[in-house]
Amino acid sequence: MVVGVCGGIAAYKVVEVVSRLKKLGAEVHVIMTESAQEFVGELTFRTMSQNPVATDMFGTPARWEVEHVSLAQKADLFLVAPATANTLAKMAYGIADNMLLTTYLATRAPVLIAPAMNKNMYTHPVTVENMKKLSDGGCNFVRAGEGFLACGDVGIGRMAEPAEIVDAAVNLIACEKDLAGKRVLVTAGATQEAIDPVRFITNHSSGKMGVAIARAAKLRGAEVVLVHGKSSLPAPYGVEAVCVGSAQEMCDAVLSRAPKCDIIVKAAAVADYAPESVSTQTIKKSDADLSIALKRNPDILESLGKNKLAGQVLVGFCMETQDLLANAQKKLEKKNCDLMVANSLTEPGAGFGCDTNTVTILKKNGEKLTPENMSKEALAHIILSEAVKCK
Ligand code: PMT
Repeated sequence: MVVGVCGGIAAYKVVEVVSRLKKLGAEVHVIMTESAQEFVGELTFRTMSQNPVATDMFGTPARWEVEHVSLAQKADLFLVAPATANTLAKMAYGIADNMLLTTYLATRAPVLIAPAMNKNMYTHPVTVENMKKLSDGGCNFVRAGEGFLACGDVGIGRMAEPAEIVDAAVNLIACEKDLAGKRVLVTAGATQEAIDPVRFITNHSSGKMGVAIARAAKLRGAEVVLVHGKSSLPAPYGVEAVCVGSAQEMCDAVLSRAPKCDIIVKAAAVADYAPESVSTQTIKKSDADLSIALKRNPDILESLGKNKLAGQVLVGFCMETQDLLANAQKKLEKKNCDLMVANSLTEPGAGFGCDTNTVTILKKNGEKLTPENMSKEALAHIILSEAVKCK
């Protein structure tokens, strides 16, 4: 694996990335730009990677070979971290005026980019366009996070944490592209049913499970559309994200796209009821109690099941506090699903909001699968593998 380090304060975090990759048994070769060496010494990366560090296009290579070409060929993954706005721009336009950039142009290995910069630079239309250009050209991104930035600002632009970058790297090269050429639709998060202009009915879904499935599907080569409720979670890079509010909006967004999809995963927690009418003005409080009449929302999964196309795979989720498996089985049949993923609200480390989940996967043929408690990211791959088998 080749790791290209650019000049940003987050370069120090890439030392941990290299260390973690080494612990996983990876052979790591580091390239540092000139400005990267202002932040971290070459010796640090040489020690961590246990390999010579390439810094100079015209230096004497450790062995006699054209170094940027040999590194480009060696790479089974080219990771750029922290990727500065400057390097992203040059990568987007094919400028190759240092070792990192020449290696990028010369390699045909998958590319993973972990940007880090000031929030205004990150959200600048030029940077956004450059990232889109790179993404459209096949580069993968570990999106920057939000928080305190080294420049003193607070906002988006922090490099993703080393663990996340390493996970993304491993996923990228360890993933079989078994969904290449497939279109996958995933729903995630909670719907919001307006009561008046300031109030709504919703639930605790964070969208993590659905987003993990969308990311996994993208990593496995699918074209992915993610229809999600209002959520602070960023959509995985390269995934088409459609943000909706109410169940009716989700229904419209899903049903209009469904006929073109090979696999549909309904991980969203959809409100079954919505206020019969939405007050145009804020409802004023008084001393009297208040009742709100509710009407049934459309059942999106049921409609999908009724209109399922030949060869299309439909995966539902089920959340219950009682008789989980019996109710999940009923939903599997009633909604004409191929798989029903049943998760309990009562298990620790499962369900809403957390990063892990415990589920039972019910299949149409009566088989059941109960993976151990694991990260939603890992579970997403298991669910997709089961979905692929249904075809
Ligand atoms: O988002 P996280 O915080 O990561 O949490 C994940 C999760 C717990 C929300 C998720 O894994 C999950 O269980 N989602 C489904 C919750 C749910 O709505 O379950 P249900 O049993 O009410 O619905 C069954 C299925 O029908 C679901 O696939 C649901 O999307 C779908 N449905 C429900 C109602 C409705 N009106 N339309 C639907 O399509």
